[in-house]
Amino acid sequence: MRIASGGQKRQYVQKMFERIALRYDLMNRLMTFGQDLRWRRVLVREANLPRAGRFLDVATGTGDVAFIAAEGTDQPDLIVGIDLVPKMVHLAHKRAKKRVCHREPVWMIGDTMCLPFASDTFDAVASAFLMRNVTDVVAALREQVRVTRPGGRVLILEVPRPDGRTFGNRLFRLYFHWIVPVLGWLITGDKNAYKYLPASAETFLTVGQLQSIMKSIGLGELYHYSFMFDSVAVHVAIKPHKGT
Ligand SMILES: C[S@@+](CC[C@H](N)C(=O)[O-])C[C@H]1O[C@@H](n2cnc3c(N)ncnc32)[C@H](O)[C@@H]1O
Repeated sequence: MRIASGGQKRQYVQKMFERIALRYDLMNRLMTFGQDLRWRRVLVREANLPRAGRFLDVATGTGDVAFIAAEGTDQPDLIVGIDLVPKMVHLAHKRAKKRVCHREPVWMIGDTMCLPFASDTFDAVASAFLMRNVTDVVAALREQVRVTRPGGRVLILEVPRPDGRTFGNRLFRLYFHWIVPVLGWLITGDKNAYKYLPASAETFLTVGQLQSIMKSIGLGELYHYSFMFDSVAVHVAIKPHKGT
């Protein structure tokens, strides 16, 4: 499958998530054997939010990351989830209404390439499974860094380009390319969305390449965690204070 670039890619991604929105959560749980929530918890834990910390979940989708962040605060209005696709945000809001604890984050519709926030606003800015989908990784990352306060954290949960270096990783690649698209088709009725997923990972960056980009735009104290045969990674970095 060929991945479009620029405006075409943005439009493709937008339409795809509109189509699969209703089955998105179910598909996540099934294809990751329920592990996806654990990865998101690691992402939020590593945000290391202070009391009354401000947290931005970029490309919140149906809100999983924002909900986890809201669990840990009594000020859920300081947790913001933003996404390009109104249908995903609408589902996040619907899910909040069904939850027992009414800690609903603030939902917004917007593009990660141009975030509607002042510079240095958030204590932590996180994205889960976004960066493969953007048209310009460096520009998206710069925008996330801009709205993070100095000393705050920038976090990325993403599927890196599989390196096939271990038997487990090669096995995962087979699963990702052959089983996931069929499962996705059966669950969502969409033939292409879950072909796009492995294809977008193949054209994405390796863990090392993404770390280099993070470093090159001035982020510091980088580290990462890898899961499921190195097929998923959580990257953590700190925005330096001015003049350091
Ligand atoms: C794979 S989903 C991840 C959703 C959520 N973060 C999660 O963990 O389930 C990717 C999300 O990125 C959103 N997205 C894609 N491009 C975007 C952009 N340029 N700005 C904001 N959101 C974007 C899509 O609408 C979709 O909800």
